[in-house]
Amino acid sequence: MSKRPTPCIVTSEEALRQEEIIKQLRNDNDLIKARTGKQKYYYISTFGCQMNAHDSEKLEGMLEQIGYMKAEEEEKADFIIYNTCCVRENAEQKVYGKLGYLKHLKDKNEDLIIAMCGCMMQQEEVLNTIRTKYKHVDIIFGTFNLYKMPELLQTYLETKRTVIDIWKEHKEIVEDLPSIRKHKFKASVNIMYGCNNFCTYCIVPYVRGRERSRKPEDILKEIEDLVADGVKEIMLLGQNVNSYGKTLEDKVTFAQLIRKVNEIEGLKRIRFMTSHPKDLSDELIEAMRDCDKVCKSLHLPFQAGSTKILKAMNRRYTKEQYLDLAKKIQREIPNIALTTDIIVGFPGETEEDFEDTLDIVRQVQFSGAYTFIYSKRTGTPAAVMEEQVPEEVSSRRFNKLQEVLRPIITEKSQALHGKTLEILVEDLSKNDEKLLTGRTESGHLVHFEGDSSLIGEFINVEITEAKTYYLIGQRV
Ligand code: SAH
Ligand code: SF4
Ligand code: F3S
Repeated sequence: MSKRPTPCIVTSEEALRQEEIIKQLRNDNDLIKARTGKQKYYYISTFGCQMNAHDSEKLEGMLEQIGYMKAEEEEKADFIIYNTCCVRENAEQKVYGKLGYLKHLKDKNEDLIIAMCGCMMQQEEVLNTIRTKYKHVDIIFGTFNLYKMPELLQTYLETKRTVIDIWKEHKEIVEDLPSIRKHKFKASVNIMYGCNNFCTYCIVPYVRGRERSRKPEDILKEIEDLVADGVKEIMLLGQNVNSYGKTLEDKVTFAQLIRKVNEIEGLKRIRFMTSHPKDLSDELIEAMRDCDKVCKSLHLPFQAGSTKILKAMNRRYTKEQYLDLAKKIQREIPNIALTTDIIVGFPGETEEDFEDTLDIVRQVQFSGAYTFIYSKRTGTPAAVMEEQVPEEVSSRRFNKLQEVLRPIITEKSQALHGKTLEILVEDLSKNDEKLLTGRTESGHLVHFEGDSSLIGEFINVEITEAKTYYLIGQRV
């Protein structure tokens, strides 16, 4: 776990090397297919955040170039990858739970290849556990060398011995990786990697390394290419997008970047996450207000309401500063939908501290919130803090928080009743195949009756019913 700054060298030499290996693997696969008629399939399970989901899209891109096709079911796959998360204990438990099941699949099919990657693998204890207790895992890599997957696969195929390649830190940003996106019309784009904030509860800076930004020209080129390929909505990704550009030689701010992205012709919507309140500038608020393509919705985690707890969390803002910022944003950008992340039960949190959290919830009136019970992460400063909050106290506060949040979110949702809103149609509804699902600019989910040919289109719907977590609409 290193806190040292790392150099930011951009090279495509590595990408070229992997491209060469991809070609060789593709040839081998084609030969096998010609000889046996057998097509190879992959299956990727992704745990964790959008960053991981986007990494999985890159893995898929490389695998399809190698000649693998996506398996509908894990049982049918020849190559299974688990892209893991360790932000909270339950994320890790899920992975360990499923690893046992993989052993059963491997027992049935000895040619099955199993790989593990992602944030969990960057922790030494986890690596040791997998090496000793889960010997059926064939390939292990981490977050800093994802692009090397083809080479690691090739080594495994040649040696049939476990391949482990974990880097302690980032070496270079490898551009131009192929990527398969879930939807043709929307895509995620990394604008930066890593995090320098070291919130005391959080493992991310240790497993994702130091903050480094991609050059604006590389980001713009990627978005232009995506738009040419049919993308209408993009999500700019970073752990702390508001500090974008600080590590670049030619300094650029996040606000300047989104103004440039806003000029890309053919692009319709721009979203971004995550914003850290301490770095959210007036310049960004102005850019959000001015840029017509930037969705008027903002995810602004506050984590805890008490200034004492915020200090212990190393968040670097007070309760009053957060409230002032949220109210300023709501004043400057009317109708903006604010969403947030909240942790309850951080070490030392008293009833009074928790009341401050509820107070922020009541004052800001969020449109949505992700809520978490504090989870102790070995290696972080909070893990060794005294006054860890007992489980039953955290659970009670968690339930109370839901009680306070629910009516607020419902009310925000109901305020949209009767309105006509533009949505981007995304999919068939998961629960009812007769319904389609789209998202409003504010990020609200809308179900409506329509034909699947509308998927990927912007249409207007009138909201006829408003539930807490979704809306029902009618095409107009
Ligand atoms: N970079 C983003 C979010 C990263 S993790 C940000 O700073 O907002 C996503 C969320 O997981 C965090 O916002 C936080 O609410 C939650 N989280 C992170 N570590 C946690 C922990 N140890 N226990 C409980 N929740 C945690
Ligand atoms: Fe974790 Fe804080 Fe960085 Fe977000 S800003 S990834 S919560 S350390
Ligand atoms: Fe999890 Fe890693 Fe994201 S720890 S939340 S997948 S950055």
